[in-house]
Formats: sequence, C-alpha cells, structure tokens
Amino acid sequence: MEYDNDRIAAVASELAARFDGLEQKADILKATELRALYAEIPTLPPEQRGPFGKEINKLKQALEAMVEAHQEQAAALPPIDVTAPFDVNVKATQRPGLLSADHGSKHPLTAEIENILDIFYRMGFTTVESREIDDDFHMFGSLNFPEGHPARDDYDTFMTVETDKNGKQFIAPAHTSTMQNRILQANKTKLEQGQPIAAVVPGRVFRNEDLDARHEHTFYQLEGVYVDKGVNTGHLIATLKTFLQEYYGKELDVKTQPFYFPFTEPSFEFALSCPFCEKAGCNICSYSGWIELLGCGMINPNVLKMAGIDPTVYTGFAWGSGIERLVMMKYGIEDVRHFESGKLDFLRQFS
Ligand code: DAH
Repeated sequence: MEYDNDRIAAVASELAARFDGLEQKADILKATELRALYAEIPTLPPEQRGPFGKEINKLKQALEAMVEAHQEQAAALPPIDVTAPFDVNVKATQRPGLLSADHGSKHPLTAEIENILDIFYRMGFTTVESREIDDDFHMFGSLNFPEGHPARDDYDTFMTVETDKNGKQFIAPAHTSTMQNRILQANKTKLEQGQPIAAVVPGRVFRNEDLDARHEHTFYQLEGVYVDKGVNTGHLIATLKTFLQEYYGKELDVKTQPFYFPFTEPSFEFALSCPFCEKAGCNICSYSGWIELLGCGMINPNVLKMAGIDPTVYTGFAWGSGIERLVMMKYGIEDVRHFESGKLDFLRQFS
C-alpha cells in the first residue's frame, strides 16, 4: 500500500512488521502510533486535515483487512483427526502442515542423547532403543532377581492391571537393563565370530517416586553392555572414564566403591570428580568434590547363562546411568523437573 505522507508510510511499515509477532492480532488496531496520528488531525492547518485524515483511514482499513484475513485463515484450518493413520507415502509437501520447524527446537535431552550416542558410536558401540512397556522376565527374571527377592522393591515399579501369558503384570520399565537379555541373545553369534558385543541403550524409564529437585517419575537412562573374552573391571572403568572425559571435554578423576545389583558381580557405584568445580567443592557436588553418577559392574554369570552365553568363556561389563543427571551437571541445571515441565523459558536457553 502506497502512502503520500511519509510519517503515515513509516507507521504503516512499522505496524506491518509488528503484526506477525502479535498473539492477539486485533491489538494492532489499538496501536499507540495509530492513535497518535488521529490525535494530530485537529492540530493541522484546515486544508491539510482532509487528505491526512483520509490516509490514516486508508491505513486503518488496511490493518482491519489484515486482522480479518488472519481470522479467516485461522478458522479455515481443517480439524485434525488424531486417529487417522499417517500415510508415509504422501509427499512431504502434501502432508498436513502443523507447526513449521522454525517454531520449535530440539529438547535439550534429545540433543544431549544424540551427543552421547555419537561418542559411543565412535567408541564402537551400537544403539538399541528400549521399550516403554515390558514384562516381568525382562525387568527382573532375566536380570537374576529371584521371585519375591527384596531387591525388586528398590525399583518402585509401575505395573499394569493386565497380565501376560504367564499371569504376570506388564511393567513400565524402571530401568534400561530390561534390554540386556535381548541384546545378549540377539548378538551372541558375534562372540562365536570373534567380535565383542558392544551396545548402548538410551531409554525412557518410570518409577513411582516422590518428586523433588532430584527425582522424577519419568526420566531417561543410558545402559551399556560389553561382552568378549577376557573382559575385566579395568575395561569397564576405562570405557566410562573415556566417555565422561569426552562428554565434559576435560580430564576427570573417577573412583568406584562396592555396591549391590543382582545382575552384576562385583557391582560398583561409580563416581567422577565434579566437572563443575574440579574437586574444589561447590553446590553441584554438595561440597564433596565427587559426584556419584551411576551403577555398574561385571555381568553376573547367571545373566550371561540366561541369554545362552557361556560365562566360563566370556565375561562382560554393564552400566546404567541417569541421563538427566549427566546433562544437569554439564549445564548447572538445579532441578530435574525442568526437563518435563514444558516451560519455554527453560527450553529456549538450549534452542
Ligand atoms: N539398572 C540399574 C538401576 O537402574 C543401574 C545399573 C547398574 C545398570 C549396574 C547396569 C549395571 O547395567 O550393571 O539402578
């Protein structure tokens, strides 16, 4: 739209630029610049008032047309049938347009999981995804938790009312170790061919937790499994240390202390020197200089046997780590609940 008066033209282009960013498009009609132009009319010499006023009206009509066009467009969006199957053969350009990519960004956990998997890929590990519903055998039985053993209670596990063919309730997995038996079974022929089994499992896990700054009911874990001839605890520690140094981009000290898991023997709790303060003491490491990060150990011979692998020939290590914890320490995030909160002011800091 052309305007003879330079100031009206300037206001027109300024308001056009503002329009896109407005949540309530009709607010453009209440812009102070527009009101100021109207207020100016009585101050002008009488012969200029007519043409000036006409041009402001022209601008106002143009703005009203923009608001109307937007409302029509918004109303014309077809309703989305969320139950309709998605046809993968439809060309990308013809698929229903929801939000364009520039309206969003990767969730920080997605971006960090990609980062972590990239490091393990370069270390020779393949990636296997875990499931979001599983069974008693994979959650407990295959991991050497005897029926009724109190160690099962440590996992605050959500279960369904429905049961599987063995009469056991289905499970929302409380750890990614559920994938160990599947990985070992699926890859045992590799061992016979002289190759190691090396896999990592990123996965969403669920626990009936009381929520606070350190505990969420839904969070991510990264499991790792490595099996070959002659594997020992030194390999376990070196693998985790190498990964952590790559992830935090600095030299770190690590230490282990004995722990208990039914599926590893020996089992360890693995700690690293605080990547934030480098052992000087800070609120991230509760002024201890160390962070207890994950559980790990040498895979229990019973777990190997249950997957059909001979523990007198092969040994292996495994670990399981919370992913949020790793990311919180990288960026100094103080509350785990931010990740699932959907708060834009948190998410935008990573976009
Ligand atoms: N699954 C354990 C947990 O969630 C973590 C873990 C410990 C995984 C030791 C392992 C392992 O693979 O070897 O508490």
